[in-house]
Amino acid sequence: MKTALITGASGGTGEAFARLFAKDHINLVLVARSGEKLKKLALELEQQYHIKATVLIQDLSFMEQVETVFKELTNLGIHVDYLINNAGFGDYAYFNETAWLKQEEMINLNIQALTRLTHLFLPGMIKNGYGKILNMASTAAFQPGPGMSVYFASKAYVLHFSEAIAYELKGTGVTVTACCPGAFESGFQLASSMEESKLVKGKKLPSAASIAFFGYRHMMKGTTVCIPGLMNYMLANAVRFSPRNLVVWIAGKMQEKAK
Ligand SMILES: NC(=O)c1ccc[n+]([C@@H]2O[C@H](COP(=O)([O-])OP(=O)(O)OC[C@H]3O[C@@H](n4cnc5c(N)ncnc54)[C@H](OP(=O)(O)O)[C@@H]3O)[C@@H](O)[C@H]2O)c1
Repeated sequence: MKTALITGASGGTGEAFARLFAKDHINLVLVARSGEKLKKLALELEQQYHIKATVLIQDLSFMEQVETVFKELTNLGIHVDYLINNAGFGDYAYFNETAWLKQEEMINLNIQALTRLTHLFLPGMIKNGYGKILNMASTAAFQPGPGMSVYFASKAYVLHFSEAIAYELKGTGVTVTACCPGAFESGFQLASSMEESKLVKGKKLPSAASIAFFGYRHMMKGTTVCIPGLMNYMLANAVRFSPRNLVVWIAGKMQEKAK
């Protein structure tokens, strides 16, 4: 049986990915800080689908804890076939008004943990001639984001990193998918203090389950970049043909607080 490691599996798309893998009879390694939520989900999915779900309670903004994930799985003899780098958050504020610790935690989680986990698990996948990596980026990846500058830049990193290694890995049996959704309903808005943003306030957003389903399908097909929603797809591509200062101006307006 194959195994999927999912970071940020205690809610949102992470939990939804866990449900999709379990349904396809794939064992799970669930990682996040909220141990009780992970244990409850693991038990439910083990009972419902007769799979094995291993829970690792780790804060991935600390690099020692990222290393621990790899060490624990090596000790347990668990080979990872699917790596879902899903955990991430943002911070809705002008950069000069942000708390540094939150920016540092965000860079550590959104960029460093994702990169390190990929580096740790990739050799085993290549050796096996099979592996799938899904990195959660965002439509934020396609342009600078005044009001969430570090978050948008972190997702640009995720997108570019994923595309580059997807190219390098051709012919190895390992594929890399960057999933780039627009805003969807999850714990993200609260964690990123963005409930007042025009982008989300009073809006009917897609569910985390629908986004995970879209990403899952594309990861299984080996698509390098997938963008759910026609409008998101068109906007992400329009940016490439527009003057950069216009793009930043529009992004800044879109990110304003709702009146
Ligand atoms: N929701 C959106 O509008 C949206 C749009 C585009 C892209 N995304 C991206 O989609 C991904 C999933 O987000 P979501 O919307 O599902 O958000 P969410 O509901 O807030 O879930 C985030 C997950 O990450 C985990 N997490 C946060 N900090 C962590 C840490 N330091 N160490 C380990 N795990 C941590 C959380 O669990 P614990 O708190 O238990 O640790 C939770 O399971 C993120 O990468 C996000 O940037 C979201």
